[in-house]
Order: sequence, then C-alpha cells, then structure tokens
Amino acid sequence: MIAGASVVSVGLVGCTPAIEVQAERGRLLSQTESTVASRKAIADVQALVKLGPRVTGTPVMEQARAYLIEQYTRAGYETRTQTFTYPKFEDLGSNITVNGQTINGRALNGSIPGKPSARLVVVPNVGQRSDFAAVDVKGAIALVRRGEIPFLQKAQNAENAGAVGVVIVNNEPGELYGTLGGEVQVPVLALSGKAGNSLIESQPSQGTLTVNTRQRTVTGTNVIAHLPGVMQPRVVVGAHYDSVPGSPGANDNASGTAVVLDIARNVAQTPSARQAWFVAFDGEEDGLHGSRAFVSQAQPDWLQGLDVMLNFDMVGVNDQLLVGGSQSLAKLAQATQSDVSIFGGQGGSDHAPFARASVPVLFFYRGQEPNYHTPNDKAVEPQLLDETTQVALNVLQQLLGSDTSDRISLMRRSVL
Ligand code: BES
Ligand code: ZN
Repeated sequence: MIAGASVVSVGLVGCTPAIEVQAERGRLLSQTESTVASRKAIADVQALVKLGPRVTGTPVMEQARAYLIEQYTRAGYETRTQTFTYPKFEDLGSNITVNGQTINGRALNGSIPGKPSARLVVVPNVGQRSDFAAVDVKGAIALVRRGEIPFLQKAQNAENAGAVGVVIVNNEPGELYGTLGGEVQVPVLALSGKAGNSLIESQPSQGTLTVNTRQRTVTGTNVIAHLPGVMQPRVVVGAHYDSVPGSPGANDNASGTAVVLDIARNVAQTPSARQAWFVAFDGEEDGLHGSRAFVSQAQPDWLQGLDVMLNFDMVGVNDQLLVGGSQSLAKLAQATQSDVSIFGGQGGSDHAPFARASVPVLFFYRGQEPNYHTPNDKAVEPQLLDETTQVALNVLQQLLGSDTSDRISLMRRSVL
C-alpha cells in the first residue's frame, strides 16, 4: 500500500520497569504523573466506550465529538470540525424463505434491493456462462456456488440468462461477507456454506428472496484541534474515533483517539504544540473517508509543509508495539527505542491517504486481537496506552527538536 514502507516493532513491556519517561517539559515525569496520564487516557477510552458503537452518521457520534471537543478545549486547544459525505451501503436484513422457513443471509455489498418470489434453480458448478446454458433460470432465482470467478461475473451471467435473483453459497461452512463490485439489476444474497448447501440438497422448487438494502448519503465529521493561530503545522497526529456497528470499539479505536488526546495534553504547554494539529478522524471503518477528506480538502502547499503524519490505531491491546511507515521514520523510531525489529505487513488505516499524498507517515498499532470488530472490544490496558504515548512523545522530540528548544525556552521563561 505504501511504497518503500517498513514496519518496525518496539518491544516495550518488560524492557523497562521504570515509568519515568522523558517528558516534553524537558524533565522526567514522575511515577505519579505518569500514572495520572494513563488514568486520563483510560478515562477517555471508557467515556467513549460507554456511548456504545460509534457508527458514522449516528447521534452517538455527536456525543463522542462533544466529549473530544470538551477535552481538547480543557487542554487549551481550539477545535473545529470538518464534514464530508459519502454513499453508504446498508443491509437491513436479507434472507430467503423456502416452504415457510426463513434462512438468513447477507446481501452482497452493493446489491440492489428486491423481493422476488420465483422458481429456485441450482446452477451447476460455479456459475460460468456455460453452467447457466445447462439450466433454465429465466424468471427464476439462481442458486450458485462461490469460487473460481468473481461474484459480479456470476451475478451478471445469471442476469443475462434471465434470472430475477441470485443466491451465492459459500464454499466453506462459515458466513460469506462479499462485495459485488459492479452493477447488476438483480438482487444478490450470500448464504453461509452450512445454510446454503443444505438448501441445495433439499432440492427446493420455489422460494422468496428478500434483499433489503439501501444506499444512503452519510455525513462524517472530523475533529481538528490546534493551538490558536497555528495554521501550518509540521505534524498531524491522528486516529479514527468511529467504530464498526455492534462494537464499542475500545481498542479499535478509542485507544488511538485517547493516545492522540494524551499527546496533545502532554505537549500543550510546550513549543511543540505550535507545530502540531491533532485530528480525530470519522468514517474510517467505511473506507478511510475522514482521512481521505482531510487530505483532499487540504491545499497541496499545506500538505508539503508537513514533516510527518502520526497515526494510532489499535494501541490498547497486545504487549508488542508495532510501528510502520516510511523508511526514514521507521529508522527514527528505531533510534529512539533500543529493541526494534522490522515487520512486513500493515493494516489499512488513516495514514494511507497521507502516504498517497507523499506525506511521510508513522503508524502505531499493536496487531490483531480476538475482539477486533466484535461486541467484545470493550476494554484496553491503561499501561499500553501510556507506553504508546511515551514512544510517540520521544519520536516527536526527535522530529521537532523540542527536547532542547523546550528546555531552553522554559529555562528562559523561568529566569525572566
Ligand atoms: N483498525 C483497523 C485496521 C487495522 C487492522 C490496523 C489491523 C492495524 C492492524 C481499521 O479500523 C479497519 O478495520 N480497517 C479496515 C480497512 C478500511 C479501509 C475499511 C480493515 O482493515 O478491514
Ligand atoms: Zn481501526
């Protein structure tokens, strides 16, 4: 996704028992202060999680925004919001009913809605054109197995052969969450292998397909915080604050949102804060819409003025902190941390649109975990948030040279 990108791992847990860290103010945070910082970050995660799933375009997001704006304001920042819209596909519940029995499935992403009652025809093999030639699906609902060719091709073959609906059966027992990836004028339902194969085996003759979908325009809202008058920062520090439906998104990504807020609190009284914008992105889970809108609404000159975009996504679970991004920044992260190793992959997150716009990026995350995108993503470890903030503060010190300049300016201030 990002040319020349590398991923660096920073083993933190167990490497240092001391909670003392080099703080922005040019002195060491005491254990008590560090604990206070981590309590604030965990309180932020809890406040966001308490609201329930933070799905873009829902009223919960207004509450999340109000919380973030209040916190940034308290820390001395000015905030503004940036809105953007995008079309969102929704499945409001889709199924097929055969002999009075309803089998639940999922509409293929992008399918039109529809409710045809018709003959059911099992198409041989995987629904190639030749497979459709062997059966009569005119005016019928075609049952097609997954595999070999794209969903779109199967659905188009069905449509061309006169079918009024399509059911695609997974080629493994589990659920099928698929995307059509193009236009077809017939509704398309996906069934799990388990449900679909028993339907095929029952040799059904008639059924009603219900594909209950809609496409609506969703408005997302990024929250941008900076000190008054800071118009051209050198650094964007960001994280998405939306979550997937059904998940309270503690780790994905109240954790990153809280770390960004915590970085902002830590640097608020230092010159570093005049070099940074802090952004909570919306619409990430639907396809990085918030960060894409941020980048596309920015002037090219403004983007060129950035030295780096720091992104935090899923940083509250798993001991190992991973850092990905452009080569030079990965090296810089290596330099600030002794036990660093290189990893090969990375997830899609809000740094990607910046990287595509040639802004150097550094991506902090802690890898996959079992509760990812589930209702159980409801807790994170406070210490891991704190450690992430501290590594980021070290990186910022290196990048902005704030360690020295802050010390000097603070010393000056204290003697004048
Ligand atoms: N937090 C994830 C991405 C992620 C996963 C980052 C694992 C690091 C490690 C993010 O919220 C997400 O789920 N993104 C989508 C992609 C996006 C473009 C819709 C994904 O990875 O499926
Ligand atoms: Zn995420």
